[in-house]
Amino acid sequence: MDDIESLRQAKLAAEDIAGALALSSAVDWNQTAADWALFIARGHAIGLFDPRQRLVATAAALPYEDGFGWISMVIVAADWRRRGLARRLMGACVETLRRQGRAALLDATPEGAEVYCRLGFVTLGGMERWEGKGGMSMTPGGAGVAPIARDATGALLAADRAAFGARRDFLLGDFLSRPGALALGHSDGFVVLRPGQRASQLGPLIAASAKAAGDLLAEAIATCHGAVFLDLLDPWKGLAPLLEARGFRRQRPFRRMALGRSTLPGHATRLVCAAGPEFG
Ligand SMILES: CC(C)(COP(=O)(O)OP(=O)(O)OC[C@H]1O[C@@H](n2cnc3c(N)ncnc32)[C@H](O)[C@@H]1OP(=O)(O)O)[C@@H](O)C(=O)NCCC(=O)NCCS
Repeated sequence: MDDIESLRQAKLAAEDIAGALALSSAVDWNQTAADWALFIARGHAIGLFDPRQRLVATAAALPYEDGFGWISMVIVAADWRRRGLARRLMGACVETLRRQGRAALLDATPEGAEVYCRLGFVTLGGMERWEGKGGMSMTPGGAGVAPIARDATGALLAADRAAFGARRDFLLGDFLSRPGALALGHSDGFVVLRPGQRASQLGPLIAASAKAAGDLLAEAIATCHGAVFLDLLDPWKGLAPLLEARGFRRQRPFRRMALGRSTLPGHATRLVCAAGPEFG
């Protein structure tokens, strides 16, 4: 095996997307080439390349407004693990955000949390990824939920900003420009759907009441075709029976962790599903 000294660290560029996608697909993640392109264009996406120029580790920091950024895509190829590569790339991402005056937030897998807690990250919340199949609603097309036109997303962007705690128009705009993406609205909330590598991703879902959250969730599931993933934040665990009734099952937990701040941004009472662990 090559020595870690032989690895070259570099910012990722468009020509690295295929290698990055190979890495995220190898760990069964749901990100697409469009997601990697977004990290490269809008964030600080870095990687380690072996002497044959194979990308063997990645991490990305995505700066948001309002004083924080999101770290994600911390992946190390199986044959390079436990040699300090995640720690090294995380250190670079944290330092990038710190220089910008931003705290670092992330959603950690159980394996990732082992790395981050040793870097000083503390757990401020959590969520669970659920997976199931779309098109199984008991009340399709109902409950006052309707698609939102792409040029009428102002209220959606404002609601997301209040619930998540940072303005991320560029992110939701990017999602909604992708083929197959869709936003649904309700008098009390919104949900965004986008295609993923393995499944449609449902989120963010923002709601001002439990009724709106349930109606949006049911309608969004009914609208999807094939496999669906969603990340349900812990304060909204009460929606589990709705998901179970539609045949969904828990896939894995995430810990929402932070370095440099002691509270979560936004309003936990409004943010029902994350945009994904890679975006918060
Ligand atoms: C999680 C992951 C990125 C860790 O990468 P890595 O390069 O092996 O991590 P490091 O070698 O930098 O680990 C730093 C420290 O974290 C701890 N650690 C890392 N992986 C661990 C594990 N699976 N179990 C327990 N502790 C672990 C150890 O203390 C380690 O130091 P040590 O090896 O000196 O004991 C890697 O296992 C991976 O790609 N997993 C799949 C994708 C994933 O879950 N990514 C995290 C997303 S939030």
